[in-house]
This record gives sequence, C-alpha cells and structure tokens, in this order.
Amino acid sequence: MTNHVSLEDSVFALKERIKELSCLYRIAELASLPELEPAALLQQALNLVPPAMQYPEHACAHLMVNGVSYYSERFQASTNCLTAGISTQISSLGCLEVFYPDKQNLKFLPEEEKLIDTLAQHISLIMERRSIQENNAKLQEQLRHADRLATIGQLSAGIAHEINEPLSAILGFAQLVLAENPLTDNATADLQKIVNASLHAREVVRKLMLFSRQVPPKMVPVDINKLIEDGFYFLENRCAKQGVQIIRDLDPSVPSVIADPSQMHQVLVNLSVNSMQAMPNGGLIQISTRRIDNDVQICIRDTGEGMNAEVMQRIFIPFFTTKDIDQGTGLGLSVVHGIISAHNASIKVESEPGKGSVFKILMKVNSEESS
Ligand SMILES: Nc1ncnc2c1ncn2[C@@H]1O[C@H](COP(=O)(O)OP(=O)(O)O)[C@@H](O)[C@H]1O
Ligand SMILES: [Mg+2]
Repeated sequence: MTNHVSLEDSVFALKERIKELSCLYRIAELASLPELEPAALLQQALNLVPPAMQYPEHACAHLMVNGVSYYSERFQASTNCLTAGISTQISSLGCLEVFYPDKQNLKFLPEEEKLIDTLAQHISLIMERRSIQENNAKLQEQLRHADRLATIGQLSAGIAHEINEPLSAILGFAQLVLAENPLTDNATADLQKIVNASLHAREVVRKLMLFSRQVPPKMVPVDINKLIEDGFYFLENRCAKQGVQIIRDLDPSVPSVIADPSQMHQVLVNLSVNSMQAMPNGGLIQISTRRIDNDVQICIRDTGEGMNAEVMQRIFIPFFTTKDIDQGTGLGLSVVHGIISAHNASIKVESEPGKGSVFKILMKVNSEESS
C-alpha cells in the first residue's frame, strides 16, 4: 500500500517536473526569436506560466515590465499569490505574479515558488539582452552618421579651399574694374552682378568652412544667458510679425562656458530661424538654459510643424533642405553641427510631426567655475 502511494507521488512529481521543464523550454525558444516584438514576446511568455502550475485550470498570471502590464487568460487578482521581481543588473523593471483564486484555498508548492523565480530570471535576462542589442544598434547608427558627416566634412573642406582662391580673384578683379572710369552703365550693372554673385558664393564657402571646422573658434569665457539676452532683439521683431513669440527661461545660476561668442550666436540664430520658419502661422519658441552636472544645457524648443524620422536623419548634411529655394540653402544646421563639434559640445534633436521640435545643446562648464 505504501509503495502504491509513493508511486503515485512520484508520477505526480514527474508530471509537475515535465510541465515546468516544457515551460522553461518554450521560454528559451521564445528568447531565440529576434524578430518577435517585445510586447508579443512578453505576452507569449506569460501565457506559458499558468499551464506550468499544479492547477492550471485555476491559475492566472500577471507580468509587469517597464510600467506595462500583461495578463493571462481569465485573469483575476487575489491575495493568494506568488511574486518574483524582474530586473536587470542596474534597474528594476517590474514583476511576475501568479494567482490562485482565494476561495479555492489552493497551496503553491515550493517547486512552484522556485519556478516563478527562475521564470522571472529568464524574462529579466531576455529583456536585458534585448536592451543591449537595441543600444548596440543605436550606437552603430550614431557612428555611421558621425562617419558620414566626417566624410562630407573632408569633402566640403577640400571644395571650400579650392573655390576660395579663384573666388577671391573674381571678386577682387571685378571690384577693381568697377572702380575704373569711365564705364558704360551696362558694364557697371554687369560687374555689380559679378560682385553680388561672388559675395553669395563666398558666403556659401564660409558656411562650408564652418561646417568642416576650417574656422577655429576663438575661445573665451562666455555667459550663455547674456548671449541669449542680447542676441535676440532683431529676431524678436521678425518673429512678432509672424505671430511667433520668443520665451526665455534662463537659469541665472548657469556657469560660464568656454566658447567663441560670435559662433555661438550664429548657432542660436540658425536654430531660432529654423524654428520660426517651422511656424508660418505663429507659435512659441522657448529658449532655456540649465546646469546639468558638469554641463550647461541650452534648449531651443518650438511648437512648429516638426520633422519625420527620415528628415531628422539628414538635417545636418550640407545642402539638405525641405524648403523653397528662396527660404533655405540647407546650410544652417550644417554650420551649427560644425560649430558645436569644434566646441567639443554635443547637439541632439527630438521632434514630432505636427507637434514641434527641440534642439538640445550640451557644453562643458568652464573648468574654472566647475567646482
Ligand atoms: N525647428 C525645425 N522644425 C522643423 N524642421 C526643421 C527645424 N529645423 C530644421 N528643420 C529641417 O531641417 C532642414 C535643414 O535645416 P537647415 O540646415 O537650417 O537648412 P534650411 O533651413 O536652409 O532648410 C530644414 O529644411 C527643415 O526640413
Ligand atoms: Mg535653416
């Protein structure tokens, strides 16, 4: 008789073990499907939990990861529950919970407790691996982007240099001839066109040189707040005509940075002009400064038309523009990028079509003030 009972017990234990193992096996299978979306993966992993329990018909489960909850079928919360945390090495992500209905008075086995812990660990590992893969992909993309910009920068530097010399000659000689007397009115008008076209070309060359960092910044301590306070009067008038309001939100305790004031002024103007142009029917430009640890952050935020991901990918590339020919040359942000790189600072953009854009610049605090 005793024998008979223990055989039944072993069969039962074996059946439970098989359920657990097949649950773990299926989770490992899910983890090996890289194309499975995270939400689908978590839901499918969760669906495997109740069948692995001793009373699958009564068990239900809940999984919370990064604030999003997933529920198994027939989910009903109760106080009779097992919980295990989901976490990566650095942060807690959520938890996995299994419930038996209160009124059934069912008990969890110690093996089930272990199983839930193991499942939570598996899910944590899957999430951690996924986030590492995502970060790697993002980093690769940033590297590719930086690399592309560096290559275009070298090309621009070469072109700017080659064009600069003949251009100076064209401009110089045209101006010399203009000064000759007497000239026919026609000749004067034609020469004036040559001068104007050369000046335009020289401006393009200057911007290409700024983009490719051929114009070294003249570094001095700069009070960014003051630069913003002083530098926007002329823009404010233009903005007001278009129904665009500029709001300054400057943190008075922001320390100085080491920068070229005129180049930084150029950055702020280029960014604000873009914001203004993105709001043909009016809106807000908010310029703010903050200290974040050892950096000063400058934010230029607008409530304009925003950009889609495809445009955002290309905005720093010279001559990339979505505007009409008389509205933009596509050099504004290239210049911004060149200047920011030359300052060893960084610039980031976030944008949503129809909502607006924000450009965030981070510059190191002047080390004499950083204490
Ligand atoms: N604040 C902004 N809102 C929406 N789009 C922007 C903004 N800033 C830049 N862009 C996009 O980036 C492109 C490149 O900008 P930029 O280099 O300044 O050249 P341009 O202004 O001459 O077009 C713009 O044509 C526009 O599509
Ligand atoms: Mg522009």
